[in-house]
Amino acid sequence: MSSGAGRIFGPRAINCFTVFSIRTATPADVPHITHIYNQGIEDGIATLEYPLKSEGDMRVWFDDHGERYPVIIATWGDEVVGWAALNPYSHRCAYDGVADLSIYVRRDQRGDGLGQLLMQEIERRAVLHGFHKIVLFALTANGDGRRLYDRRGFREVGIFREQGKLNGKYVDVLVMEKLVKNT
Ligand SMILES: CC(C)(COP(=O)(O)OP(=O)(O)OC[C@H]1O[C@@H](n2cnc3c(N)ncnc32)[C@H](O)[C@@H]1OP(=O)(O)O)[C@@H](O)C(=O)NCCC(=O)NCCS
Repeated sequence: MSSGAGRIFGPRAINCFTVFSIRTATPADVPHITHIYNQGIEDGIATLEYPLKSEGDMRVWFDDHGERYPVIIATWGDEVVGWAALNPYSHRCAYDGVADLSIYVRRDQRGDGLGQLLMQEIERRAVLHGFHKIVLFALTANGDGRRLYDRRGFREVGIFREQGKLNGKYVDVLVMEKLVKNT
């Protein structure tokens, strides 16, 4: 079963001639994935990860994904403008059907529908790879992320109070889930 073929989306809006492609990421994309991820870290509402990641850090992360956990990228011409990934949720066999989501859009491309396209494709890949559910963990301050997840039909599971530290202060973390089987 092949899930790696590129897919063309767009034009995404009237009066817009931009055409995005979404495809499986390759090792050559890691520098761009790193750059976009570091923008998310700098923004301070996307992730608790700190400090910024090196390409080496992200290469290890990328190589750990293997066959079952796709990393996909969105391109606009030759430019990588966003990425999404399914990550292992737990090493326990009972949770084999659960994947954890990451999604990052380049700062200058946000709010224009790219997140929706990446989510649509990563959910399709999740089904192809036999996952039953996607879960995600988001900072409660991340309103853009929340709007996207709501729109994609994710359900709020709850909020971990003071779950992790950001800039030295404990912050709350929102947990959401979506059953993807048969969708
Ligand atoms: C969260 C994120 C992935 C959403 O991707 P996106 O391409 O901006 O999302 P979309 O354009 O598909 O928009 C989804 C919704 O959020 C709104 N939105 C997202 N970003 C916005 C922005 N910067 N300004 C205004 N609205 C925004 C869109 O209008 C849309 O709302 P609607 O469906 O009610 O119209 C992106 O903003 C991002 O990369 N943020 C930083 C990293 C991050 O927070 N990742 C998630 C970690 S949990």
